[in-house]
Amino acid sequence: MLEGFSRLSQNEKLRIIASLIPDFPETENLLKSFRHGNPDVQKIIDEIAENTISNYHLPLAVAPNFLINGKEYIVPMVTEESSVVAAAAYAARFWAKNGGFHARIVSDSKTGQIHFLWPGKLNELDEKHSLLERFLREKTSDLTGKMEQRGGGIRSVQIVTNPEIKPDYYQLLVTFGTADAMGANFINSVLERMALVMKDFFVQHYPHWPEPEIVMAILSNYTPDCVVEVEMSAPFSALAPVSAGFSPAAFADRFVLAIDIAKKDVYRAVTHNKGIMNGVDAVVLATGNDFRAVEAGVHAWASRNGRYESLSNARIEKDQLVVSLSLPLSLGTTGGLTSLHPLAAFSIRLLGNPSARELMQIAAATGLASHFSAIRALVTTGIQKGHMKMHLNNILLKLNASPEEKQKAEMHFQERTISYSAVRDFIENLRKSR
Ligand code: MEV
Repeated sequence: MLEGFSRLSQNEKLRIIASLIPDFPETENLLKSFRHGNPDVQKIIDEIAENTISNYHLPLAVAPNFLINGKEYIVPMVTEESSVVAAAAYAARFWAKNGGFHARIVSDSKTGQIHFLWPGKLNELDEKHSLLERFLREKTSDLTGKMEQRGGGIRSVQIVTNPEIKPDYYQLLVTFGTADAMGANFINSVLERMALVMKDFFVQHYPHWPEPEIVMAILSNYTPDCVVEVEMSAPFSALAPVSAGFSPAAFADRFVLAIDIAKKDVYRAVTHNKGIMNGVDAVVLATGNDFRAVEAGVHAWASRNGRYESLSNARIEKDQLVVSLSLPLSLGTTGGLTSLHPLAAFSIRLLGNPSARELMQIAAATGLASHFSAIRALVTTGIQKGHMKMHLNNILLKLNASPEEKQKAEMHFQERTISYSAVRDFIENLRKSR
């Protein structure tokens, strides 16, 4: 047990943790070397979490040439997977030449729940439903006023039962609009206030029953009413550059088949959706949004028909390939980390200070772009070719290869197995032969 650890200074914490690793003192230096040189920046980062000892860097990259609803974006992406940005950028460029991405918001309501136990009857609650809703709105008006001015606030209050949980189990399912905020704090504050004042309502209106027992009040990360759709389409005649040796019609057929497989086969569907989330998560992270919330909600949504299935759809319509994606995305462009983390704030600015609805569309388009590149590669050359190219580039970078050496190595390794030693030997031989 590390008693009182949280009260130690950062250096003391770092020393203790480093001492647990056998090759101390290198560990201490390593952890220190990843701290930010500017103490003001380091202070911001330290305040984001508890017990911080160093910083964990991930690259902030950009994917240019995204054309979404006729507007051009340079999309910021944070990811640890090497080919993700290149794949998104490749698809963005291709689709920008073919009309770009067409995105729309289906709905933008968020949901929260108050779970409680109460021995009374549902019809008694139903009878006073609108009275209860008015009461709850009034008692939370000091919390909701500002949000209402921004176009949000409480949208609806539903009463839900579920005897499978318990015969006296009830739930208030509350929907909210949260304008440009993700809204977690707002929703949770309103729900906790509602839970607190609800008892007064019950005491006044149902004196013949005991007070309700509040179990918990919390937002839901399942947001099936906060959904974005994005679609792109191109005639077969435009698909030649991405068809990699297949005829455009055969490529389109194989693309559609790949999506049909992920509609019916869960092993494939999970990997398929992961390829979509490669793009979505990278934007969610870059803009300081909550990727765990997004992931949890998206995968629940992917199971909404009783089976986990593909988030994307594809069809052939009058010699056109049409690919689309719909998914729930609860994102914000104000508040939370979006204002705390300078790089999240930068990302929001790079996107032109979008509204939360616009950011939903950008993240979904980036997901669809990543997905397009993944499926395109899978149904044509396979993904290893692209990955190996990145691998080769990384090795050449390490070996300080000149542009001429790079070009020769790329030619040489087109059909050969790439490994560090093979590339090193090739470059050494080139240099010797000069
Ligand atoms: C790898 O990060 C993503 C893919 O596996 C996605 C897919 O299989 O569709 C290539």
